[in-house]
Order: sequence, then structure tokens, then C-alpha cells
Amino acid sequence: MDRVGGEEGGTVRLIPPERVRPVDLVDIVGATARPEPEGRPWIFLAMIQSADGAAVLDGRAGGLGNDADRRLFLGLRGIADVVLAGAETVRVEGYGPVRLSDDVRAARRRRGKSEFPRLAVVSRSLHLAWQSPLFVESAEKPIVITAEDADREALERARRRADVIAIGHGGADLVAALRQLRRRGANVVDCEGGPALNGQLLAAGMVDELVLTVAPVLVGGGATRIIRGPAQHAPRQMRLTHAAEEDGFLFLRYVRRGV
Ligand SMILES: NC(=O)c1ccc[n+]([C@@H]2O[C@H](COP(=O)([O-])OP(=O)(O)OC[C@H]3O[C@@H](n4cnc5c(N)ncnc54)[C@H](OP(=O)(O)O)[C@@H]3O)[C@@H](O)[C@H]2O)c1
Repeated sequence: MDRVGGEEGGTVRLIPPERVRPVDLVDIVGATARPEPEGRPWIFLAMIQSADGAAVLDGRAGGLGNDADRRLFLGLRGIADVVLAGAETVRVEGYGPVRLSDDVRAARRRRGKSEFPRLAVVSRSLHLAWQSPLFVESAEKPIVITAEDADREALERARRRADVIAIGHGGADLVAALRQLRRRGANVVDCEGGPALNGQLLAAGMVDELVLTVAPVLVGGGATRIIRGPAQHAPRQMRLTHAAEEDGFLFLRYVRRGV
């Protein structure tokens, strides 16, 4: 990146002007070596927000994105072993089976991975559309992460359609669940939110990376931010590793400091 002298002697960085295709951005993000945190997978958040920090437009994230963002979103799934999502995101965004291009599937096979990542849904209520394509047509059986004391009948229904990890009381113990995913071979988890799930991951010290699209729109109102929950008195320090722009959309990649 170029350095530009500021009037007071400080410097700002300019984003490099080279043009890369969005698919290259996925390659850049995908090719980066990720360390293995002790006993759990590396977890990145893949999120979009408006320029004024709103995580939704008319109640959904989908309304904020453009084509490049959608390609990035799909490409990021291609580098993950597990795609993690909160039940509300799955319900609101109408999640279906993970679909990947032939190229991405071939690249996964070359790297010794399964053709598709597993989708893992976190839900306490287990109010999920069990007859929907997500649970009926997914190439890899979805995982459902829930609490041990979830409703018994709902648990039985869930077990017919998904691999269930029932761990923790009241809510799922996400630290224990992610450790279990690691033991099952997941090295990289792509967390697609939403903000409530992200907040718990942040509070548990499990946000290693953030791939953030900033859409060039102002939404106003009281829309949620991309991470919701208790404020962090010791904020997670992040390092910006990549910044790219297309059509006014910014694509930013942050990795936690010290990595
Ligand atoms: N801007 C973006 O990139 C982006 C990304 C994703 C989503 N979104 C938006 O965010 C909104 C949804 O996010 P949200 O924060 O309301 O919800 P969320 O994080 O997607 O899901 C919350 C739900 O997940 C389950 N859950 C979370 N933690 C749990 C735990 N420890 N144990 C058991 N279950 C747990 C519960 O499901 P049950 O209710 O089933 O018990 C809870 O109601 C939508 O409007 C969506 O469009 C935006």
C-alpha cells in the first residue's frame, strides 16, 4: 500500500489501485494460511453492513449486497469446513442447501476436503423448517447445535433430519460445540451470523477473522449492527489485512492481532 504524508506528520494508507476480480479476492482470502487455535476451529465472520453500520435493510442482510458481495459470500463458503448460522438468520434469509460451482468443488477435492461444507444451525427452540430443501436436499447432512435440555420431541424430530450436537443447558454451549466440531475434523468455520450468534462468539473470544462488506448506502433507523450482545470492555484488537473496492462497495478483511 502507498503511504501518504499527513500535514501533522502522520500517515494514512491508500488502498492499492490494482484491479482484481472478485473471484481473485476469494482466492486471496482463501489461500491465506490460517493457524489452528488450540482445540477449536479457526472462525471467521462473513458479514455485510451499510456505510452507517446497519446489518439489515428491511429486516434482511440480502438487500444490502451487490453481485460481487454475493460471489464473495459464496466463495467464502467454498473455503470452509463448516458454515455456521443462527436459527433466526436461517429462518429470515430462507437458507437452502449450500451450492458451489464445479470449479470450487473440484478445488475442494484437490485439497482433500469434502465437496461441500456442512451447514451447522444453532437453535434452542428447534423451530426449523424440517421439510425444507435445506434439510431434505443438502448434499451433506446439516448439523444442528442445541441445548441438552431442549424439548424432547423437537430433539427427536431434529435427529431425523440432522446430526444433532446437544450440549449445554439453557442454551447451547458454543465453546464446547465448536470443540466438538474440531474433533470431527473442522478446521475452518465460516460464521454467517447473525448478530446475536456473533455476539456470543466475540464474548467467548472466538472471532479470529472478519470478512466485511461495506455497502455504499445509509439506512438510518435502529437497525442492528453486525455483532450484538454485551459490550467488550477489552475490545478484540484486529488487524486489517486486505481492502478492496468495487462499484463503491468495500471488501475488508480483518484478522485478530497477534496472528
Ligand atoms: N448483515 C449481515 O451480514 C447479516 C448476516 C446474518 C444475518 N443478518 C440479519 O440478522 C438477523 C438475524 O440475526 P439475529 O441476531 O436476530 O439472530 P441469529 O444470531 O441469526 O439467531 C439467533 C437464534 O439462534 C439461536 N441461538 C443463538 N445462540 C444460541 C445458543 N447459545 N444456544 C441455542 N440457540 C442459540 C436461537 O434460535 P432459536 O430461536 O431457534 O432458539 C436464537 O433465537 C436477520 O435480520 C438477518 O437478516 C445479517
